Amino acid sequence: MASQIARRLLRSNFLNSTSTVASAGGFNRSFASAAAAGPNSNLIRATLFPGDGIGPEIAESVKQIFRVADVPIEWEEHYVGTEIDPRTQSFLTWESLESVRRNKIGLKGPMATPIGKGHRSLNLTLRKELNLYANVRPCNSLPGYKTRYDDVNLITIRENTEGEYSGLEHQVVRGVVESLKIITRQASLRVAEYAFHYAKTNGRERVSAIHKANIMQKTDGLFLKCCREVAEKYPEIKYEEVVIDNCCLMLVKNPALFDVLVMPNLYGDIISDLCAGLIGGLGLTASCNIGEGGIALAEAVHGSAPDIAGKNMANPTALLLSSVAMLRHLELNDKADHIQDAILTTIADGKYRTADLGGHSSTTEFTNAICDHL
Ligand code: IPM
Ligand code: MG
Repeated sequence: MASQIARRLLRSNFLNSTSTVASAGGFNRSFASAAAAGPNSNLIRATLFPGDGIGPEIAESVKQIFRVADVPIEWEEHYVGTEIDPRTQSFLTWESLESVRRNKIGLKGPMATPIGKGHRSLNLTLRKELNLYANVRPCNSLPGYKTRYDDVNLITIRENTEGEYSGLEHQVVRGVVESLKIITRQASLRVAEYAFHYAKTNGRERVSAIHKANIMQKTDGLFLKCCREVAEKYPEIKYEEVVIDNCCLMLVKNPALFDVLVMPNLYGDIISDLCAGLIGGLGLTASCNIGEGGIALAEAVHGSAPDIAGKNMANPTALLLSSVAMLRHLELNDKADHIQDAILTTIADGKYRTADLGGHSSTTEFTNAICDHL
């Protein structure tokens, strides 16, 4: 039964491919061949950032499952540095960024930005330096894990490089500060193109542009104008514009009202968490950042959970599903289907679940159960 549900989900677009879409940006080639080959040329070399806190434990889970599933990936592991690298102005080393640029493919666990002044957020550094312009977060109900809604099947596509995240904040005079929200035609067209191409190549019907252009007339106005321009090139995809507050209301009342959602940076941050909440939280949702030149960096969006780090309690599902998204980007779809099926079947069976899902299994037991289903 569980396996049947998992198969049905496979057919119903669970974690669609991201790679075909990137060809919209002019990188029309196989990502499997675009990615760097290791010394053994049958292997694709991918950068792995295990990250902090529970990161290394959940990354271990991915490595084990990839080994058992015989995935032709060779990991190049990079850790966050202990000092600020002047070339990145953050704790991320230049070498680790170079690794992603070279390999064009990577997977990232949670990174805790060290508290202190004079450095940039690790996540933002990665997005900016690698020009990861679209953040794709699929949200699908997990069979057997009951939430308020069944059959949630949404994709949020977030502009990832500008908007409210431009980092341009200053004090005008004492008691008055200013934050600049930058929206450019180039970045808006690029993410809109990605969203429509994604919808088309993944059999989706509708793209909703989420905005607050009634108030942010210039910035969100330009974002919408770009979405409209792109929509005209895709007459087969329905296009609509929804104001963000109303979008939140509609999403919590009936998520089936939406399909693919595209939006500026901060709205994407908020709406993607809301969507994750519909299916059980950030511990269960995949995310993949898409960059120019065919780069993709899949990531678990949840935090590093220092309270349970090293206790073999963490749920690796979000990183595992992100690794499946990574495999789809590489067009290793058979491996992706196989691993995804095993993850979903294990969760649906309900015998081995981590504490966050109401179970008693350790990270290792859950991972072993997935391996048994491979
Ligand atoms: C996310 C996170 C990040 C963001 C934080 C960690 C900087 O919330 O990826 O959604 O705000 O983008
Ligand atoms: Mg967020």
